[in-house]
Amino acid sequence: MNTPSPQLPRRPASAPLVIGLGVLLLVGFVILAFSVLSSIPDQKQLMTPVVVTGTPDYAPDVETHVAAADPATGQTIFTMYACAGCHKAEDSAGPALTGMGKRAATRRPGYSAAAYLYEAITEPNAYVVPGFPGGVMLQNFKAAIPEPDLYRLIAWLEMQ
Ligand code: HEC
Repeated sequence: MNTPSPQLPRRPASAPLVIGLGVLLLVGFVILAFSVLSSIPDQKQLMTPVVVTGTPDYAPDVETHVAAADPATGQTIFTMYACAGCHKAEDSAGPALTGMGKRAATRRPGYSAAAYLYEAITEPNAYVVPGFPGGVMLQNFKAAIPEPDLYRLIAWLEMQ
């Protein structure tokens, strides 16, 4: 009798390759899962406010212009744009003119006096002086005061 033996399912020759690929995929997945999990910041980190400090981008440019500006006409410009209506020697509607230059150097961390004064005039709501209401100063001084006058005004304010 020569009956053919039942065909055993044969392992394909590529089996080790398939198993190897499977292991590689598994290892890859585990590494990926770990890296994704470890990159999720914990809740405490998410709740820490970002403190923006340091010099604004325009500071070097403003400082150069202010240093080169003649402060002699500053007072005239100050009166011309009605700043004097709110900024008198002592605190009134706005913070006092007396000592404004000195305070400007310490108001915001990383800001020079010139950069602070520039911001206070051109973008008054970026920082509201404690004890005073915000939104009182005109928002369009940047457009209203020609640049050379703005730098002269700041150079004069620095000396107050
Ligand atoms: C209608 C009133 C008003 C006018 C006009 C006004 N300011 Fe002010 N100013 C304020 C008030 C109120 C504050 C404080 C609140 C704030 O920071 O916005 C202030 C803040 C400032 C500061 C910051 C002072 C500090 O102690 O840190 C500067 C600098 C300044 N003003 C300059 C000017 C100049 C320059 C002009 C004219 C071009 C002007 N202001 C016109 C009301 C005024």
